[in-house]
Formats: sequence, structure tokens, C-alpha cells
Amino acid sequence: MDVLQHPVEIQARVRSQRTSSQSIGVVPTMGALHEGHLSLIEAARAECDFIVITIFVNPTQFSPAEDLNDYPRPLEADLDLCRSAGCDLVFTPSAENMYSPGSQTTVAVSGIRSMLEGVSRPNHFDGVTTVVAKLLNITLPDRAYFGQKDYQQQLIIRQMVRDLNWPVEVVTRPIVRESDGLAMSSRNRYLSSQQRVHALSLNQVLNRAHQQAASGQSPEDVQADMLRQLQVAEGVDPDYAVVVDTETLQPVKKQAQTAIGLLAARVGSTRLIDNRVLTFAD
Ligand code: PAJ
Repeated sequence: MDVLQHPVEIQARVRSQRTSSQSIGVVPTMGALHEGHLSLIEAARAECDFIVITIFVNPTQFSPAEDLNDYPRPLEADLDLCRSAGCDLVFTPSAENMYSPGSQTTVAVSGIRSMLEGVSRPNHFDGVTTVVAKLLNITLPDRAYFGQKDYQQQLIIRQMVRDLNWPVEVVTRPIVRESDGLAMSSRNRYLSSQQRVHALSLNQVLNRAHQQAASGQSPEDVQADMLRQLQVAEGVDPDYAVVVDTETLQPVKKQAQTAIGLLAARVGSTRLIDNRVLTFAD
């Protein structure tokens, strides 16, 4: 497994793989790898010949008030995990290597970037789409792997890839959870043991929503109950809880068959997100 820091080195390496007709899979991450990230690598390995993982804590997707400086960066442990997961190439650029002085281009997807996460984190998605665009151009993949955990993010990336005619297949993989249901996240490391217990409410609220949808309740009622449950949950400060269309993230019609329940909340100072597809009974 090679570990390279410079975009041109990665491009040269990937080009030589492509000339030998190998399909390339990329897994973009910010490191502090866990089973969720590893599930993306595993999916890539099943479908591609050559696996590139990128580890870069992208400063442009953090607001000044967010946790950029505190974000965990256990690089050696991450590289060990990449090695045992069977990655072929790791891209670990510095911020200077990614953003040369005087760079002026931003890639922005209008519309869904401004809703939900975009309300609480105004410039977040422009940072994400710009860095993912760069990572796709640097790693030249056939397939790029993302998690359903960041549901809005993968929708926005799909939109970008469609709009810009990128010859890349975007693959979205299911959320990997701890055995007690907490969605895995690099930010779970910030939680105290008590906060870790409080954080379980997010998944519990989604499970309850799933049952209510299946037992015939309307999307409006399920959404109202999700918010109420989050508001009364101990140690949880809700940001949003919605039941929306799986593609547009707009409110769903009464007769909708499926929808996505999305929620965000703070547990202590840690902001967590989670989601679940809901299937409504006729
Ligand atoms: P990061 O939070 O490191 O996540 C990298 C990828 O792992 C994302 O596609 C995310 O959805 C996925 N992921 C995280 N937790 C998961 C879980 N529990 N189960 C399954 N997949 C999970 O998302 C980012 O980094 C960045 O925004 C990035 C796309 C790399 C751009 O900087």
C-alpha cells in the first residue's frame, strides 16, 4: 500500500493503473476511521480492482465555530486499518497541497445544499462539493463510495456528478451502527460515557418513526412525534427532525409510500446526525 501526499503523484499512479484496464474505486474520508468507513472500502474491493482511500480533514467545510482543530487525526492507526482492509493507495494531502495559494474556484450545488444541514452549517456543502470535485479529479475513479449516514451529502454529490457529466458511478452504502444502535461516527469519540447513553435516543426516535409509518400513521404525524420525542429525550438538544422525500428532501405527500426520516441534535457540544428510510403502510 502506497501513501502519497501530492495530487500529481496520485494522478500519475492512478493513470498507470487505468492503462492496465483496472477499475478504480475511491473512498473519500476525513480519517479517524471506523467500521462505517471500512464498510465502504469493503464494498469498493468487491466491485473495483484498485482501491484508493483519501484521508483529508477538509478545512473549507468547517465553519470558524466548528471543530476543525479538535477533529481527531489518528493517522498511524488509520493507515494500519487501510492496510488490513486491503487499500492499494492512500492519499493524505496537506491543506497546502489541496488548496494552492490564490485558488479561486468553488463548486456549489444550488437547491438542496441550503436545506436542513445547510441551514445549521451555511457554507458546509460548498466546502464538501469543492473538495469532492477535486478528489474525483485527482483520483480519477470509476466508482466513488459514500455513506447513507450523511444522507444529504450523498444526494448533493450525486446531483453534482449528474450536472457535470462526471464519468463516475456514485455508490451509497447503508449506515453501520454500534451493537446498541448508535450510528458510527468519528465524532462519537467526543462523547462522555453519559452522553454516549443520551445519544442512543437518535436511533430510538428513528426506530419508533419506522414502526409508526409501518402501522399506518401519516408522514406529518410521524414527523411531529419525532420532534416531540427528541425534545423530551434526556441530554439531547434537537436541531431538526423531518420526514421528507428521499430525493428532493421536500415535505412528502400524504399518500407517499417511502420517505426518509432525518434528524440532527446536539448531545453536549457534539452535533450528531442520523436517518432511516421509512415505509408507509397503505
Ligand atoms: P467522513 O465523515 O470521514 O465520512 C466519510 C464517508 O464515510 C462518508 O461518505 C460518510 O457518509 C461515510 N460514513 C460515516 N459514518 C458512516 C457509518 N456509520 N456508516 C456508513 N458510512 C459512514 O463525509 C466526509 O467524511 C466528508 O464530508 C468528505 C465526503 C470526505 C469530504 O470531505
